[in-house]
Amino acid sequence: MIVTVTANTTLDYTLFVPKFEMNRTMRATGTTYSMGGKPTDASWILGEIGIPSLALGFAAGHSGARAKAMLEARGVTTDFIEVGGETRINVVIISEDNKGHSTITTSSLEIEEQHINALREKFLAALDGASCVILGGTLPRMMRPEFYTEFVALGRERGLPVIFDADEPNLSAGLKSRPTYIKPNRDELSRLTGQPVQSVDDAYRAGRDIFERTGTCPIITLGGDGALAVLPNRAYRIPPLAVEAVSPAGAGDAVLAGLAASIERGQPVEEGLRLGIAAATAVCLMPGTADCRRADVERFLPQVELLPYPG
Ligand SMILES: Nc1ncnc2c1ncn2[C@@H]1O[C@H](COP(=O)(O)OP(=O)(O)OP(=O)(O)O)[C@@H](O)[C@H]1O
Ligand SMILES: [Mg+2]
Repeated sequence: MIVTVTANTTLDYTLFVPKFEMNRTMRATGTTYSMGGKPTDASWILGEIGIPSLALGFAAGHSGARAKAMLEARGVTTDFIEVGGETRINVVIISEDNKGHSTITTSSLEIEEQHINALREKFLAALDGASCVILGGTLPRMMRPEFYTEFVALGRERGLPVIFDADEPNLSAGLKSRPTYIKPNRDELSRLTGQPVQSVDDAYRAGRDIFERTGTCPIITLGGDGALAVLPNRAYRIPPLAVEAVSPAGAGDAVLAGLAASIERGQPVEEGLRLGIAAATAVCLMPGTADCRRADVERFLPQVELLPYPG
């Protein structure tokens, strides 16, 4: 079983407006609720493509119940710890004139020490039947980045592959425990290394350096420029598929899902990268964060190319 852990569970509320303008009333041309929060996004995507997973983490209130129901509707098993406050509702605004998208995040879950202890217990119990773990995302206000140092280590100590996706300062904290994969996008990689990442070659050099230092394989996504996978003795550039993106939000989380799927099925990582990028492309077609259709994933799968890099 694939186990996903989301401390900061989220629903995304996406609003499409013809043109985003300050000090104006704007009429949304479309609205949609979907999942948010990277590991739950990956569970939701895995559910759509027919692969079961167990979603752990913290949830609260009406939005928590709604996130749970949305996951279960896709066959995901959920076992969240009920905490105080509310599962977050983040707002994604897509301006149709230039296809720009902006996100406003919130912080509304209230976590106490006892909740973290309860999550640790559930996580350890779940590891017994796990094929791999997906961890990541932001943390509720009262939680420290060291949460990721500990939870990545718990998975690795059991000999399980850990797929970890977070921005700084959480990324550095989790990386200390040497996850199997990290999946930074361009900005996250820049913030991690303190260097600008513009070209594919910048990404390759930064990714290879991370691998040499930690043994962790960076799967770097570059939005509309595709992706670069840095593996122990090889690397691949993965060109983007030509699609008219409606909303790319959550596309990166499809890559987490693809990697986990290949581990669960005992396939080489190359299969996981293909499935991940096919699912990421399918996510771009849907208005909701991390939403995709299985038929699109299957249609894109044979189109994904892994090109050895650097040539
Ligand atoms: N405009 C686009 N056209 C084609 N493919 C895209 C586009 N945007 C994203 N993708 C695909 O989705 C993958 C992941 O996207 P991206 O780098 O935006 O992830 P991300 O920033 O982690 O996203 P998120 O954090 O919202 O999940 C890319 O590697 C690419 O294959
Ligand atoms: Mg991402």
